[in-house]
Amino acid sequence: MKIDFIVNDKPISVDVDPDMPLLWVVRDELGLKATKYGCGKALCGACTLHLDGDAIRSCSFPVQYVANKKVRTLEGLCLNKETLHPIQQTWIDENVPQCGYCQPGFMMAAAKFIETNDNPTEEEIKSGITNICRCGTQPRIIKAIKRAVAIKQSTQPKDKL
Ligand code: FES
Ligand code: FES
Repeated sequence: MKIDFIVNDKPISVDVDPDMPLLWVVRDELGLKATKYGCGKALCGACTLHLDGDAIRSCSFPVQYVANKKVRTLEGLCLNKETLHPIQQTWIDENVPQCGYCQPGFMMAAAKFIETNDNPTEEEIKSGITNICRCGTQPRIIKAIKRAVAIKQSTQPKDKL
């Protein structure tokens, strides 16, 4: 089945089994390898990316449902060529990753989370982002998210604060 959609602001057309999970289309058909396979059951969050601005678990999302929609992966998270997204910047500043495998999914979940949470508590971050890290990086993730929220607020136009 031919499916047209947008990936990281570029129009894409693929001809694949409509039931193929979006994760495999992104990784194997488009060569965007940041998004990872973990559990394959929508449980761990390693495969998180954005679909029309929402964070979804792409291992369990048939590609047929992305027709004419916008997908964003970690490769497309930068605000522009010169500016990292606040989540990318604070992940560096806090040295968040250990093995790194879960991190793209966490970053995409966190990028969505900070859009709608202006002063999250640790508990709100834990309940809002249910991804799993086996290396135990969650304490640094929480610090990085709090710093990213502060960056977002400091760069927002005053009339939006
Ligand atoms: S690989 Fe998709 S949620 Fe685990
Ligand atoms: S950094 Fe290794 S699984 Fe999260």
